[in-house]
Amino acid sequence: MENFEFVSPTHFVFGRGAEEQVGAKLAEAGAKRVLVHFGGESARRSGLIDRVGASLDAADIEHIELGGVRPNPEITLVREGVRLCKEGNVDWILAVGGGSVIDSAKAIANGACVECDVWELFETKALDHDVLPIAVVLTIPAAGSEASKNTVVSNDELGRKTGYANNAQRPKFAFMNPELTFTLPPFQTAAGLTDMYCHLLERFFDDVGAVPVTDNLNLSLMNTIRAEAPRVLADPENYDARANIMWAGMLCHQGLAGVGRHEDWATHGLEHELSALDPAITHGAGLAVMFPAWMEYVHGENPARFAFYGQAVFGLTPTGDVEADALSAIDETRAFFARLGMPTTLAELGVEETDIPKMLPTLAQNKGVPFGSFKKLTLEDAAEIYKLAL
Ligand code: NZQ
Ligand code: ZN
Repeated sequence: MENFEFVSPTHFVFGRGAEEQVGAKLAEAGAKRVLVHFGGESARRSGLIDRVGASLDAADIEHIELGGVRPNPEITLVREGVRLCKEGNVDWILAVGGGSVIDSAKAIANGACVECDVWELFETKALDHDVLPIAVVLTIPAAGSEASKNTVVSNDELGRKTGYANNAQRPKFAFMNPELTFTLPPFQTAAGLTDMYCHLLERFFDDVGAVPVTDNLNLSLMNTIRAEAPRVLADPENYDARANIMWAGMLCHQGLAGVGRHEDWATHGLEHELSALDPAITHGAGLAVMFPAWMEYVHGENPARFAFYGQAVFGLTPTGDVEADALSAIDETRAFFARLGMPTTLAELGVEETDIPKMLPTLAQNKGVPFGSFKKLTLEDAAEIYKLAL
């Protein structure tokens, strides 16, 4: 097991009506003036923004609003949020939405505490500043940003989508009411399931040997997602299925499922280039295409690890041929994503072979070269993996 540091300061309020506690909890924490940040229309349409506003009012907390975060959030709105926070003496940010809204909120929380343009933090990865405290009302289980140390933001002008990590931006509160996810369209539910499952794969396949305490937690989450996915897709208002998925999404990415390991994250890097190329590409859908391709390309580094995964998650029986067993595990993974209704080829995402060279320079900027852990990848390797996914 590798050495690690693990910080998880988030206070979770989970269950029916969780969002009604926003005002009381933030008042207890000393919030005076809150920026309520949200997405396109779902949270407004459902009345959630009004309910959260009423909860803040009841606790005598002033609040201003900034909506309009798009999926694959963009730096221009982040800059607007930074301006509002600085001019309006905002002392807390409340993100109401999914990964895109939370990531935009995290970026604003950092930007509000620095003199430089907020994008510079994504370039320099600077860590020596304060961050405004963040609370979250989660509406889609997927990215795990409600407890993670990461934010991922696009800069359309530069054609970049890149991450920035620091423990200070981990949310202080996450209000998680599974009922708020009943309205998710099947595609978003499935993309979220895919993303959280891939957060486990990124951690399970690296260059560290077995770490049973971490690996067994990870495998148990994979099995939970596989079992709950058909239930939640068949019956979107099944509270228990939604609740199990919502909590799993957090556990997949807050960090515990990877402690003591190096983790890989090459495939997330490959996917982020797809959604930078075309912001209409949903992160989970991009991962559904890229992960099996990455697996196919790298499995020869340690086929036994893939065979073990196939047995533990898909119940495959060992054949005595470890290479064949590894390939079966990869086939099962692809089939699982396909059953969720996810795409299996780049063509379905509108990405062509001629797009591959366009993504490599920004991939190198964002990830550095070589990148990954299970197999150290060059840009030539990356191009081959994209080709396998065509
Ligand atoms: O904008 P609205 O109208 O709210 O619609 C959203 C959006 O279109 C909709 N939605 C959300 N909750 C809903 C709902 N529709 C109906 N009912 C509800 N209850 O769902 C759509 C997708 O929302 P988004 O926030 O984009 O989803 P997700 O949580 O998957 O976030 C994706 C972003 O997170 C990043 C991704 O790269 C992507 O930019 N990630 C962030 C990570 C992190 N911070 O730790 C890690 C991840 O690996 C990932 O990279
Ligand atoms: Zn992800």
